[in-house]
Parts: sequence; structure tokens; C-alpha cells
Amino acid sequence: MRSYNNRRKTIIDIRSPKAIIGANSWGSAAYGKLLRGSSVDEATIRKAMDTAKEKDLLIFDLAQDYGLGKAQKMIGRFGTDDIIISAKFTPGKKYVPGQLRKSLERDLSEFRRDHVDIYWLHLPTDIEKNLAEIIALYNEGKIHHIGVSNFDLAECKKAKSILDKAKIPLYGVQNHYSLICREWEQNGVVAWCRENGVLFWAWAVLEEGMLTDPRVKTKGSIMKLIFSGKRKKLRPLHAAMNRVGKRHNITIPQVAEAYCANKGIVPICGCRKPYQVEQLYEAVNTKLSPREMWFFETVADKVNVRILGADVFRFAVKK
Ligand SMILES: NC(=O)c1ccc[n+]([C@@H]2O[C@H](COP(=O)([O-])OP(=O)(O)OC[C@H]3O[C@@H](n4cnc5c(N)ncnc54)[C@H](OP(=O)(O)O)[C@@H]3O)[C@@H](O)[C@H]2O)c1
Repeated sequence: MRSYNNRRKTIIDIRSPKAIIGANSWGSAAYGKLLRGSSVDEATIRKAMDTAKEKDLLIFDLAQDYGLGKAQKMIGRFGTDDIIISAKFTPGKKYVPGQLRKSLERDLSEFRRDHVDIYWLHLPTDIEKNLAEIIALYNEGKIHHIGVSNFDLAECKKAKSILDKAKIPLYGVQNHYSLICREWEQNGVVAWCRENGVLFWAWAVLEEGMLTDPRVKTKGSIMKLIFSGKRKKLRPLHAAMNRVGKRHNITIPQVAEAYCANKGIVPICGCRKPYQVEQLYEAVNTKLSPREMWFFETVADKVNVRILGADVFRFAVKK
């Protein structure tokens, strides 16, 4: 399954991405300020996107609510011809036939394109009905790959069997995973993905910025306020990441990114500055030894801190 990038004359294997650029905090200055403590101007975000393209990190992960509804429009303005777009449908509690199609049409107009490369069912709500709509759009060529997000193992199996019947591969599972949140690995989802040739994309590998260097002072934000007590408890882990990271010439957040990549898990990282993209690229090209991986896990288990939790959106799933 290969996607040919005409403009850059580059062959990109959509099946084996090294890392994904998360655009959750693109677009809205208010969102950036509130959640991240600072806003980033459009020129900086555009430069981050250019840096990603230079590094062949061509997949950008989006959803309609990202940047308070502004991220998709922003990337559409920047131009999406030479990148790979990952987008999502977020089902509400009430299934409305045709709503998914309408939502994709809005996405396409915001991206200024006739298709999305990867389309995720964002929550395991009305799985059969929503996947039936996604399959129809896939068959029309408006969606090139299908994934599911925030699904547990039984739900992943159900999605795969629906897609199998339509002779469409399940592209990936996009769930929350990080060094301190490995539940999807412990309960078999990651292994199931591996066995079935399904990619596992990890969102929030930096745990809302809590797996970054505590010595680097950043502006206050809602997230930092909520998690500041827990951040203190993470100090032994930060110290371990710093110590081993130095050996490889990488920073604490890069260790968190490298950890995922060394597991064969694809990290989606919230990058809105060029240096973050450069660091992500270096991180996912860093080889950690099995002993180093074991060491991180041992310290992570010992500090036993939860920031987001594996199944954080379960409350939004229709029962
Ligand atoms: N499928 C889903 O349900 C779902 C849910 C949530 C997120 N996602 C996807 O996952 C992506 C990542 O999640 P996220 O953006 O919430 O959080 P994240 O990537 O875990 O963390 C972003 C934070 O890390 C900081 N950061 C990034 N690179 C850094 C570096 N090299 N050094 C130091 N700090 C660095 C950012 O700093 P600044 O504040 O300075 O920029 C920001 O505060 C999203 O953008 C989205 O695409 C998917």
C-alpha cells in the first residue's frame, strides 16, 4: 500500500511511518494560550510544517475540533497537495444517517482536497453504522485508508471483521500510549495489531508536556496547573530519561518519543515549532537498547503516575 507524492517526487510508504505531526494545537491562539501556556504565530507553524516536509515526516494528524476548529482550515491554507492527511469522524451519542458523509465533506473543503489519506472513527460508538458509511466513502475514493481510535481489543476485533467482510484492510489503531501509560500493550491491543498487520499510532506520547524536562521553564497553562503535583512525582523518571538520553545526545521529551518508536509504535507528537519537528525526527531515529527500554519501564512503574489514562474518552462513548 504505497502513496505516491507527485510534487516532491517521493515515494512514501504510508504503511511504515516513523512519526506523525499532531496538529491539535495549531490554528487558534486562544487554544494554544489556554492549554499550552503560549500561542505560536502562523509563520512559526508554517515553518514547522516545512521542516516536517524536509524530514519526510509527511503525515499530519487532524480533527475538526483541533485548534478550536481552526487547525484544518489553517493546513488547507498552507496547502495539502504534498502531504498525507489523517482526519477523523467523532460520533456523537445519537447516530444520524449521513452525518459522517457531511462531516467528511466539510473536512475536504477545509483541506481543499478531494480525499483524505487516512480516516479514523474517533470513538467506538455505533461501530457498524459508522463503518458502513466510511466503507461507502472508501469505495468512492474519498478515503484511502481506514483506522479506529480509542477502541479496546474487542472493539478493534469487531471493526476488523466488518472491514474484512468488505475486503478492506484495517490500517491502524490510534490510542493513547506513552512510557507511563502502557495499558494497551499490557491488555493485548498492541500485540494484536502487530499480529494482524495493523499499525498502532500513539497519541500524547509526551503526556500533555509532563514528559518534558522540568528544568526548562515554560509559561503556565491549565494543563500544567492540573498536573503540577503529578509532575513532581515524575522526577525520578525525568532523571532516568535525562541520564540515558545524554548517552544518545537526546533530551527528555526525545527519550519519550524514542521509547515509542523503539517499541514499533508510531508516535504522534504535538509539534507547532520547527525545533520540535527536528527533535522528533532525531528521536525516532535513535536506537535504544533492550536494557535501556527495560530500565525506563522499571522506573516508570516505580513512580506509578497517571496523567491522561489509557481510555480517557470512554465517557463520550455511547453505551
Ligand atoms: N485520537 C485521539 O483521540 C487523540 C487525542 C488527543 C491527541 N491526539 C493527537 O495526538 C497529538 C499529540 O497530542 P498532544 O498534542 O495533545 O500532546 P503531546 O504531543 O503529548 O504534547 C504536546 C506538548 O509537548 C510539548 N512538546 C512537543 N515537542 C517537544 C519537544 N521536542 N521538547 C519539549 N516539549 C515539546 C509541546 O510544547 P509547546 O507547548 O511548546 O508546543 C506541548 O506542550 C495531537 O496533536 C493529535 O494529533 C489524538
